[in-house]
Amino acid sequence: MRIALVGSGYVGLVTGACFADLGHEVVLVDNDEQKLAALRTGNVPIHERFLPELLARHRGQRIKFSGDLQAAVRECQAIFIAVGTPPTDRGEADLSYVESVAREISGAVDSYKVVVEKSTVPVYTSQWIRTVVIRNGAEPSSFDIASNPEFLREGTAVTDFLYPDRIVVGVESERCAEVLREIYAPLTSGAYYSRSDAIPRPDRAQVPPRLIITSTKSAELIKHASNAFLAMKISFINAVASICESVGANVHQVCDGIGADSRIGPRFLNPGIGYGGSCFPKDLMAFRAVAKECGYDFRLLDEVIRINEDQRHRFLRKVRGVLWTFRGKRLGVLGLAFKGGTDDIRESPAMLLVQELLREGCRICAYDPAAMDRAKEALNSSVEYAAGPYEAASGADALLILTEWEEFASLDLDRLRKLLKYPIVIDGRNLYDPAVMATHGLSYYSVGRPAALTEDLPAGIRTNKRERP
Ligand code: UGA
Repeated sequence: MRIALVGSGYVGLVTGACFADLGHEVVLVDNDEQKLAALRTGNVPIHERFLPELLARHRGQRIKFSGDLQAAVRECQAIFIAVGTPPTDRGEADLSYVESVAREISGAVDSYKVVVEKSTVPVYTSQWIRTVVIRNGAEPSSFDIASNPEFLREGTAVTDFLYPDRIVVGVESERCAEVLREIYAPLTSGAYYSRSDAIPRPDRAQVPPRLIITSTKSAELIKHASNAFLAMKISFINAVASICESVGANVHQVCDGIGADSRIGPRFLNPGIGYGGSCFPKDLMAFRAVAKECGYDFRLLDEVIRINEDQRHRFLRKVRGVLWTFRGKRLGVLGLAFKGGTDDIRESPAMLLVQELLREGCRICAYDPAAMDRAKEALNSSVEYAAGPYEAASGADALLILTEWEEFASLDLDRLRKLLKYPIVIDGRNLYDPAVMATHGLSYYSVGRPAALTEDLPAGIRTNKRERP
């Protein structure tokens, strides 16, 4: 099928590359000529596993790049809208890009088209798109609107697309459902998975995936509710971690116990310094705003957001508790991205913590395997950047782990101890076993677990417990 993807950002680019790999003819449309020129010459603007391979495989063959949206609409049967929906000052999603794309599509509807919203949008957006397309002159029977939310995670977006837990398609007509069924048939029939050149299957993937067909409103809600639920899981375990700290319990043992209940499950229960990124913070605010507009005060979401912000402040208090004063201290920082496997620093808790530590007068030497270029643009110039984790640790009063990169979980601990000025590691992502750290002579502080200590500190810090009055 011929498919247009409007917006060549994260979602558009990954979706377009994957559709091409399923055998479709894809036109990636963007109004940024510079971006298009870079993409045409083989540049891949985001750090995403398998994306360079897929773009190289299909560029100039099944994928072309274009600045002409109306020509793409005329040429294609399905048009996926994947433009940005940034938050407004009030936390709502700004849908003006979606609206202007809908207006432009309208003038080019010359045969039956399916317009699919792929961006994360509030409930009712597909109805609004329909209204705008009709207002601008298209025949109501000449097109349908569908909602097909994406559940891609940055860093694993390509495999998430090709090996999804489910594919959700919201439609209002059988004709439209048929077009989307056909688009996803290589996945739902399992045909893609038997190909020798298929992108390798990740461990947990169940194939073929289930196609869930719903109304457009339900599909829109599925996306917001999924992200809100996942964020709630993280805030829940972070709240439990705080209680673990107060009583001297180990949050990983608690997670093991609760995650073994198949109704709860062990995934997305990693405690830490809170969630960040371009999705959860924005989507939670947008979902809260949607709920309010519909007359429901979703206070649970307020609390999820509050716990998430508090988690960073708790971590900062922990660092202060270990270092006593901040001014002039040199801290090695591992991780700036909002999570491992990406160069994205949007709403990164690591970045927010670094900014706070700088304000407090700390000197920072940071290392991140992918996000340093982006961080340099956002942080003040006093930050030093290291060529690797050991250089960041060298001469530091303490080492802070702020992003869950895999390579940070397998450091040479003896080398680290020798390089640090004091043998102190404060881990906001719980990448190490405290007992192992202690055997390597490191004082180790993490989230929701008793500290491992090689030195004598005031009592509250030593036990990682708040002293009872
Ligand atoms: C998230 C969802 O996981 C995707 O399903 C969704 O499609 C995407 O948002 C979106 O709406 O576009 P993403 O933001 O890429 O994906 O990242 P996640 O892997 O979900 O991590 C989000 C944040 O939560 C990170 O800061 C991560 O460090 C943190 N996290 C995650 C935890 O603190 N604990 C966990 O157990 C899991």
